[in-house]
Amino acid sequence: MIYKIVKYGDPVLETKCEPVTNFGSPELKQFVEDMFETMYSAKGVGLAAPQVGVSERITVIDTSLGEDPAEKHVLINPEIVLKEGTQTGEEGCLSIPGFREDVTRAQKAVMRARNVDGETVEVVGEDLLARAMQHELDHLNGVLFLSHLSPLKRDLIRRKIKKLIKAGEW
Ligand code: NI
Repeated sequence: MIYKIVKYGDPVLETKCEPVTNFGSPELKQFVEDMFETMYSAKGVGLAAPQVGVSERITVIDTSLGEDPAEKHVLINPEIVLKEGTQTGEEGCLSIPGFREDVTRAQKAVMRARNVDGETVEVVGEDLLARAMQHELDHLNGVLFLSHLSPLKRDLIRRKIKKLIKAGEW
């Protein structure tokens, strides 16, 4: 099932998500499958549950866009246990379509999380994968990439989006 992706302006995107407890359940497995399907159909490299209206600490990431099964990551109740270096590069978000800005993130990140069965997994990422892990973890805390921009840039984008909402084009 492909979900409709929630866009900026919906309060679910700025709400801290709840930890997952139903590990191993058919519902959780199906939901994660549907998140991948939704992410691939939107051509994203990461997706967080609040982006489909579910306020739970679940993200999926695949920087290969479905090309390499080894790059398919399910990260539930994730935390970043190590960050190193910095990288600055263009970042976008499926919930803020049409806007991309430079964001500075750690160049390397180690994420510890659970898989659908509740087993602990650890993912070491650099460059795009590290960026995606930091971006998706932010989502679970109700934080959007706009928060990492200067107030001036952030307000400019917010005003543009408000106009689009008014015009019924968002
Ligand atoms: Ni995003």
